[in-house]
Amino acid sequence: MPLDIVVGAQWGDEGKGRVVDLLSESSTLVARYNGGDNAGHTVTVGEKIYKLHLIPSGIIHTNTIGVLGSGMVLNLETLVEESAMLRAAGVSITPERLWISDAVQLITPAHRLLDSVQDSALGAAKIGTTGRGIGPAYVDKVSRHGLRAGEILDLEAFAARVRAHFAEVDHILTDWYHQPGLDTETLLKEYLSCAAELRPYIRRIGPLVQSAIQKGQTVLAEGAQGTLLDVEQGTYPFVTSSCTTATGVFSGLGLGVQPVRSVVGVMKAFQTRVGAGPFPTELQGESAAFLRGSGANPWDEYGTTTGRPRRVGWLDLVLLKYAHEVNAFSELFLTKLDVLSGLNEIPVCVAYQRGGKKMDTLDFSGDARLLAQCTPVYETLPGWQAKLGACRNWTDLPKEAQAYIQFIEAKIGVPVRTISVGPERSAMIRRS
Ligand code: GDP
Ligand code: IMO
Ligand code: MG
Repeated sequence: MPLDIVVGAQWGDEGKGRVVDLLSESSTLVARYNGGDNAGHTVTVGEKIYKLHLIPSGIIHTNTIGVLGSGMVLNLETLVEESAMLRAAGVSITPERLWISDAVQLITPAHRLLDSVQDSALGAAKIGTTGRGIGPAYVDKVSRHGLRAGEILDLEAFAARVRAHFAEVDHILTDWYHQPGLDTETLLKEYLSCAAELRPYIRRIGPLVQSAIQKGQTVLAEGAQGTLLDVEQGTYPFVTSSCTTATGVFSGLGLGVQPVRSVVGVMKAFQTRVGAGPFPTELQGESAAFLRGSGANPWDEYGTTTGRPRRVGWLDLVLLKYAHEVNAFSELFLTKLDVLSGLNEIPVCVAYQRGGKKMDTLDFSGDARLLAQCTPVYETLPGWQAKLGACRNWTDLPKEAQAYIQFIEAKIGVPVRTISVGPERSAMIRRS
């Protein structure tokens, strides 16, 4: 009963797309279970770079079916655009190989506008959202008047519901935020045209996924964002609005827990974050410039979705331990080890100091205010100079790089089974 789960172990952008691409080779269904087009997952195959926001990264392999689960929030316009982009790149997108859950919540252009206006209105306290309407769409979901994909099947009734939703948001934008109103009829026309195009893709997903599992087909769940952005377990309130951890898979796809075979925690060899919120090991100056890169390489630390420079810092093992606690990783997949080449020494955060007390595990649940009071305690490991891009075996790695990995394994108690040393599909080392 094989269900493999890929989840981000940090603040997102760990390299989940490339990991899903690798594991999709032997999967039948590849399913997103949370978030929306706030995600930006990059897959590099030879010279081609695919940047995916909604469609599961596994779609690039011809053997897979992509699933958009009910735990997601779905912007119909982005999906139409992304499908066209993939078709132009030679990837087949048809109702046979892309299934949309009838229970998935929809994001509209009104949600997007509201997201930007509401986040800006927070001033200095803003979250720094991606502006994709994620928060407002999840608010509508839990307040029980959200729009669901299944409603598209009756286009006339759907149009009335969207019009009423636009009127409500228009009221909030103009009366509360004193912003210009919505151009309702133009937005409605474009939105309904996307809805009509996507109608054949809508399915009841739960039974299809369960039946695949019963037939012994592998289902791969592709997490978006990362553990520390989880709405419950993350660094609240500087989080996204969905369940990003492994537990989100079950409600987000409509499955029970029995089929789980593995939970793969994807971690970068250092720490990054986009948007606001506490970041104990954050760096400025020369070290930050080294980790972030200049932007000349496609993998340098600039957001896939927004292009914002990512905040960077040394690896934080206190937070990684916390991520293991809330996900129960069966293995870790370490990415971007190659980026650390050239450093003489590599500090790694092994504990925090807070209020005169030293702790090597978090003694609170994520809470941003408490995390902001923590000062990192570092152990410094020796660096290495050799470039790692051509390494394909454990023994090809410099002994200092091996020691860095073994240090992580010893502190977290989870094996690092795979290490990637470049963005390209083949640039990785599998350990037995
Ligand atoms: P995701 O959101 O977790 O899928 O990660 P992103 O795609 O947003 O960001 C990861 C970036 O790192 C992408 O540009 C990947 O192509 C790149 N990448 C992934 N693994 C490696 C690696 O091992 N080395 C290098 N240099 N780049 C990598
Ligand atoms: P992937 O899947 C990194 C961050 C935003 C912001 C916060 C809330 O590529 O790892 P939202 O728009 O979700 O309401 O923004 O979450 N964020 C991400 N950061 N990677 C992502 O996705 C992210 N998706 C959202 O920057 O701080
Ligand atoms: Mg990303």
